[in-house]
Amino acid sequence: MSAFPRVAALKTVAALRGRLQELGLSLACDEAALAAPESPLAAPVEVEGFRCGNRWVIHPMEGWDAEADGRVSDLVRRRWHNFARSGAKWLWGGEAMAVVPEGRANPRQLIINEANEDSLKELLAGTVEVHRQAFGAADDLLVGFQLTHSGRFCRPNSQKKYEPRTLYRHPVLDRKFGIDSDAPLLSDEELRRLIERYIAAARIAQRCGAHFVDVKHCHGYLGHEFLSAHTRPGDFGGSFENRTRFLREIVAGIRAACPGLRIGVRLSTFDFVAFKPDPARAEGKKLGPGIPEDPAGVTAVDLTEGIRFLELCRALGIRMINVSAGSPYYNPHIQRPALFPPSDGYQPPEDPLAGCVRQIDATAELKQRFPDLVLVGTGYTYLQEYLPHVAQAQVRAGRVDAVGLGRMVLSYPTLPADVLRTGLMNNKAICRTFSDCTTGPRNGLRSGCFPLDPFYRTLPDYKELQQIKAGA
Ligand SMILES: Cc1cc2nc3c(=O)[nH]c(=O)nc-3n(C[C@H](O)[C@H](O)[C@H](O)COP(=O)(O)O)c2cc1C
Repeated sequence: MSAFPRVAALKTVAALRGRLQELGLSLACDEAALAAPESPLAAPVEVEGFRCGNRWVIHPMEGWDAEADGRVSDLVRRRWHNFARSGAKWLWGGEAMAVVPEGRANPRQLIINEANEDSLKELLAGTVEVHRQAFGAADDLLVGFQLTHSGRFCRPNSQKKYEPRTLYRHPVLDRKFGIDSDAPLLSDEELRRLIERYIAAARIAQRCGAHFVDVKHCHGYLGHEFLSAHTRPGDFGGSFENRTRFLREIVAGIRAACPGLRIGVRLSTFDFVAFKPDPARAEGKKLGPGIPEDPAGVTAVDLTEGIRFLELCRALGIRMINVSAGSPYYNPHIQRPALFPPSDGYQPPEDPLAGCVRQIDATAELKQRFPDLVLVGTGYTYLQEYLPHVAQAQVRAGRVDAVGLGRMVLSYPTLPADVLRTGLMNNKAICRTFSDCTTGPRNGLRSGCFPLDPFYRTLPDYKELQQIKAGA
């Protein structure tokens, strides 16, 4: 049994409030989920001249399931069409798309290049059409593509083998992920070529009909790693100006090549040191709770650099920011709070509710400082039954502009539509954060909601996953 009470066991809003109080946490939460038009989530939001139909967002969620050459597969299409049916009016990026094959996070990641342009175009058009059929209109559906290079977490050729490309020697992460030489370091010259690929990818996105591109800066991937490249010499490390050169040059290139294309950034606005399971507290096959790899490392929110980065985004004319945190590879409890860890994780070191509140509060602080930016909130899935109650309270209070769904949309794709229509949720479809959607890909399988999406139970990956978990 977990050391923490399950959210499903907190039968009323009062019980949730009581639990938060026990934890010393404060979180606005409405008494009941509201349907449209009363719900603050039903109100449109303006994003750089685009009237987005409501305040629900679908976060980018990949499935490690594109074709080997990076084109769209049936599973990719199914996932995007589910996003389209969700009722959310903002699809933030769909899923990470590698701008170069060697920058893929897995051999089945989408690649955004000229060869795959038609496939991506058809994906986007189909997604918009599914939305139009479900809701009558799609002219208020804001859709972008998320552009990425996986940096330290590249696995372009084998699901089981990292082929990292890094920016600097990291004392903790190099050790944790087995990097023992300078070989993976990207040169300034390679970075300049990569910047060109981001700009080329943005051109493709625009031709496909995307309203925006996300120049991804989160979760430990390359864009995010720049922000901590204090020890890197040369043009892309050291000073803040150098560490943000990658962003600035990509943005300048996109502005010149793609007039009218909006640019967003998904940002890990704060980060902690890497965590590992405490070996002293492992119980049989059960991992120990997370402890810092380096006891002196950062384990508190510090938004100083995040604020500086958002000031830069504002100066660059970037208006939409998707606020995230940390990395699923080295501190998943701050990035995607869960009661049950993925196979490469650790038992939660805190009640996962604390992880939700941490991200929600950091977002509110940023919103207060940047009222002119449109901020999307992350980390709501663990709130489960109370997700809409908290989301609408946050939007009403102006602590965030729109609320994104990650894991929840895999188990319960129509949550936004159901809540907007009736104020009610289907409790049987609620994600209980078993982390199978992360354990799968960590073990070379495809990702999806194995516990609750019946379709995934029909895949061979399901059996394999059960075996992996039994032997874990
Ligand atoms: C299976 C899976 C795939 C994901 N893929 C992406 C991705 O492609 N890009 C990205 O920025 N975040 C990705 N994420 C992170 C989610 O977008 C989201 O930030 C995270 O799950 C926390 O939100 P939640 O609490 O609603 O799940 C992924 C998460 C999961 C579980």
